[in-house]
Amino acid sequence: MSIQLSRFARSLTVETAFTVLGIAKSLKARGKDVVELEIGDSPFDSTASARAGGVAAIEDNQSHYCPSPGIPEFREAAAAFVRREFDVPAEADNIVAGPGAKVFEQFFCEAFLNPGAGVLVFSPYFPTYVPNIERRGARPVFVPLRQSNEFRPGIADIERFLAEDESPRAIFLNSPHNPTGGVATEEDLAQIADLVRGRDVAVFSDEPYCHMVWEGTHRSLLSQPGMLEQCVAAYTFSKSYSMSGWRLGFAVASRDVADAIGKMVNTTLSCTPPIVQLAGTAALKHDAAERDRVMREFRDKVVLLTEGLNRIEGFSALDPKATFYVFPNVAPVCNRLGVTSHGLALYMLEGADERFGIASLGGECFGAAGAGFLRLSCAEPNERLRQALDFIPVALSRRDRLEAWLDEKPQYRLREPYRTD
Ligand SMILES: Cc1ncc(COP(=O)(O)O)c(C=O)c1O
Repeated sequence: MSIQLSRFARSLTVETAFTVLGIAKSLKARGKDVVELEIGDSPFDSTASARAGGVAAIEDNQSHYCPSPGIPEFREAAAAFVRREFDVPAEADNIVAGPGAKVFEQFFCEAFLNPGAGVLVFSPYFPTYVPNIERRGARPVFVPLRQSNEFRPGIADIERFLAEDESPRAIFLNSPHNPTGGVATEEDLAQIADLVRGRDVAVFSDEPYCHMVWEGTHRSLLSQPGMLEQCVAAYTFSKSYSMSGWRLGFAVASRDVADAIGKMVNTTLSCTPPIVQLAGTAALKHDAAERDRVMREFRDKVVLLTEGLNRIEGFSALDPKATFYVFPNVAPVCNRLGVTSHGLALYMLEGADERFGIASLGGECFGAAGAGFLRLSCAEPNERLRQALDFIPVALSRRDRLEAWLDEKPQYRLREPYRTD
């Protein structure tokens, strides 16, 4: 008898951005010029003190195990940072270091979910939420975000989930939001806090884009009264300090929950490399000005890309509010051409031209409610963004090439037109 993978392993879905990244890299290796707008990575160098701090930590032989929740310097610096920047009442004991933000989705689910628990997930959503919920045998409950509501979380949807679900246990909240760029307002956060306060309901507040807010400043749910007690917030160095490959982030939670998450680190990772934590500590202490300058460059890119996309017939994106993604509605184009939105993305990468392509993602890679949209990140120099913008109308006009590509990939033919109301 051959060895059998578990039901979970067989059903595991992954982040499509990495799959499209693989296609883009192999096309590039074969000589194609590809503008890569598929992955949410920064094109900038890690900030200066992070790099210097990492080198100094290596020279200082900080190359051994360290406490599972993190080294004291890092936990103190992270607590001071969220107090100073987001008004979150955290001390060092409220912080747990980890390799990025993503791992805390799993630890949050392990901390709060038993099999059958209901978890509210706004759709479209960051793709790894669902596998992490399912890993616990819990039950994602999807609620759509709407472009007409600026992709803000619907308060009435949360109320309904809490009132009607048979076992409501948790909510995944992501503001600023990937992929849509939506932001929950201070009023939204206050209302969400009022709804969950004192109930046995935990919130995962995913905040990787906390420095990419283009109007006003970032607000965290954890600054609302009582919310530190029943939320886990996740922050990362991947975006703000261009440190995605270092793998560093941290969670903020009540002391008891932070202790529990520390045990999860102990039983999986042992600890987060001290070299990396020291690099991050240096970034938190010294690199705010460099970070903010880089963030302004991102904002300019998002504006450039949004304005350019909105000039293309059938594309409509909201004015940029946050993140380095643009999420245009392309349903009219898909309906006219008879292609799904992810099919459109792949056609522009693979099929529209022999020598040039754009890598992006269909909104359905982030859940059914994303169908009819594209997600483009701004992770390329401005000149390359302009080349991509010039190429899209050319790609859309090549109906014969699209038909030939769809003949090869019929799974991307649009069977039912998308709603355009
Ligand atoms: C919403 C969201 N959560 C989590 C992550 C994971 O970030 P990290 O690289 O820190 O693990 C990302 C990265 O793109 C993200 O967009």
